[in-house]
Amino acid sequence: MSRRVRVGVLISGRGSNLQALMDACSASDYPAEIACVVSNVAGVLGLERAVRAGVPAHVVKHGTYASRESFDQAVDTLMVVADVELICLAGFMRVLSNAFVEKWRGRLVNIHPSLLPAFKGLNVHRHVLESGVRISGCTVHFVVPELDSGPIIAQAAVPVLPGDTEEALASRTLAAEHRLYPLALRLLAEGRVALEGERSVYRQVSSTSGELLSPGG
Ligand code: GRF
Repeated sequence: MSRRVRVGVLISGRGSNLQALMDACSASDYPAEIACVVSNVAGVLGLERAVRAGVPAHVVKHGTYASRESFDQAVDTLMVVADVELICLAGFMRVLSNAFVEKWRGRLVNIHPSLLPAFKGLNVHRHVLESGVRISGCTVHFVVPELDSGPIIAQAAVPVLPGDTEEALASRTLAAEHRLYPLALRLLAEGRVALEGERSVYRQVSSTSGELLSPGG
């Protein structure tokens, strides 16, 4: 198969989405490979997962940098040295500077556990349950300076069930995230979705392959 796109993944914790991406990359026909993992927190499970998979993993502790920009610069350097072409945020709990976001514009994506633009920010599942909506889900989107606001690449819907707790909804949503992120990364790596101006533009994604953009349960 043709050359694989080199991907960097930024994490802060458990790394279950990182695991889903690494698992997808282990298939011989997958168009991407994880070239580098960076965590801003030491000792997290995500780092262990990377090491287990033989992926170079680094800790860049944000607390040891004088500014957001200098932290981002250190992360950027690791990405460049690893020859990374695309960056996936996967539970990365730091706001990135505008300079970093602009530099990687169109090549920097995030997964968020709601159907954006609804329920941006933190404590998503609590807000979903409080709101009374019956359908939630997850979104992969391009990153822009405004938080959780970039053009949407793909989404998956998840039912909110009677009696749901935050934990139950989070775990149902997480299972959908693990299906969605590898699909979205495939589209990106194959050049079938790209950021053009303020919009996600699709190529060779026919109406019959809608399941790629919103995979079912
Ligand atoms: C996921 O729910 C993701 O959507 C959100 O943070 C969580 C990270 O989980 N951004 P994990 O570290 O990938 O297990």
